[in-house]
Amino acid sequence: MDILLNIIYLIATITFIVGLKKLGHPETAKKGNLIAASGMGLAILGTIFIHELAVPPLIYILIGLAILIGSIIGWLIAIKVEMTKMPELVSLFNGFGGASAALIGLVEYSKNVSDVTQATTIVAGVIIGAITFSGSLIAWGKLNGSLKSVVKIPFYNPINNLLFIGIIAFAAFMIATGVDSQLLLYALLASGLAYGVLFVLPIGGADMPVVISLLNSLTGIAAAITGILYDNMVMLVGGILVGSAGIILTIAMCKAMNRTLGSVIFGAFGGGEAAVVGNKTLGSIKSTNPSDAAIMMNYASNVVIVPGYGLAVAQAQHVIHELEEMLSKRGVNVKYAIHPVAGRMPGHMNVLLAESNVEYHMLVEMDDINPQFSNTDIVLVVGANDVVNPAAHNDPASPIYGMPILDVENAKHIIVNKRGMNAGYAGIENELFYNSKTSMLFGDAKAALTDLVAELKNM
Ligand code: TAP
Repeated sequence: MDILLNIIYLIATITFIVGLKKLGHPETAKKGNLIAASGMGLAILGTIFIHELAVPPLIYILIGLAILIGSIIGWLIAIKVEMTKMPELVSLFNGFGGASAALIGLVEYSKNVSDVTQATTIVAGVIIGAITFSGSLIAWGKLNGSLKSVVKIPFYNPINNLLFIGIIAFAAFMIATGVDSQLLLYALLASGLAYGVLFVLPIGGADMPVVISLLNSLTGIAAAITGILYDNMVMLVGGILVGSAGIILTIAMCKAMNRTLGSVIFGAFGGGEAAVVGNKTLGSIKSTNPSDAAIMMNYASNVVIVPGYGLAVAQAQHVIHELEEMLSKRGVNVKYAIHPVAGRMPGHMNVLLAESNVEYHMLVEMDDINPQFSNTDIVLVVGANDVVNPAAHNDPASPIYGMPILDVENAKHIIVNKRGMNAGYAGIENELFYNSKTSMLFGDAKAALTDLVAELKNM
């Protein structure tokens, strides 16, 4: 039976790796997700039925009920969630992963207290699990607006660092003395929970995707630690994969925003709330209307669409696809330019456009599209701001200086659709809107694009 269980774990491990690889491309991502989930299902069933054979029927009934209730709740939430709310959902699921690791630690501590290695593993699982749980709940609250975006806590850095050192010292004391006290274990859990709250509370709401990715990686580490505790290979490998993928994603996001992880955690940058109306030094803006924009696009040879956060908020992915199809049928060469951090979560634009059946080959990544802008007749920017802001190249004082951007200002004409002159996530002005080649098409993305499509139909 042991051999059979190990074969099952090996198959599950392979499915995780294959699944993760397939998640790297939109065309194979769905399949990758299914493959990894099937492997996980197999590992769970193998553990329940083969790991221990003499299990009372009541235990099977309880496990079955727990799986059923959890699956139904998870399914209902996931099926209903909107794309823009996905980071919230990931954050919640993350939190539950951390809570599981902490609960396992609470149950296992007194059984393993005499073994220093096991006790260290358990205590680490309790601390990391507790931090992940409370931190993820705070991130969730910030994203759904029930908590303030930036909560200022006086002297929060020294307080946090002291608390962290205190937790480590407390844990070391418990392991070194081998004290078997459930009360002390609960105190450790409580300090981990407090640290998780204090860690996430001061971070800007718009930075939450980066924090969630970091917490996700911590959940993976907590799972890997539990894998060591139970000498369970599939849990260890699964945890390591989540932990390392989470760290890679966190670093990739920071790199694409030209920010360090330290500045995300301690910086409270950008709340997306700043609004700037007009700017004397930058000059005047020129606005256009759907009818003129439709004429320009109808007679263009090459059009590049730049989707951004506003497109996602307005749920304008279907109408933008309709516009792109109409233009293509009229012989216009249309492409989408995808910036790695356009929107508010990794791959936001790819997922959004895939939802409306835009063909993958039409999505061109930043490094490939940038040299093509000089041959582009019209760039249509829809609800994007920071990712097309030339200040990233021109203004060393700008907070986004050095961030790689889409060089849309090299195109012959630029049409920018947004509702007004509000700033984006970084809360800064964008000189692109004042460029003599730029025309502003004001309005909600869905409404403006619907009007644009209607005008095109009449031509
Ligand atoms: P932003 O710079 O956030 O700009 C979005 C613009 O959309 C706003 O200026 C807003 O202007 C407009 N808008 C909002 N609702 C709209 C609607 N219904 N219709 C039309 N326009 C609307 O977006 P971006 O260019 O996609 O850049 C993303 C930013 O998020 C970057 O700074 C990035 O670093 C940051 N970020 C991204 C991630 C990931 S992983 N994607 C993670 C964390 C942070 P109006 O209010 O005037 O309409």
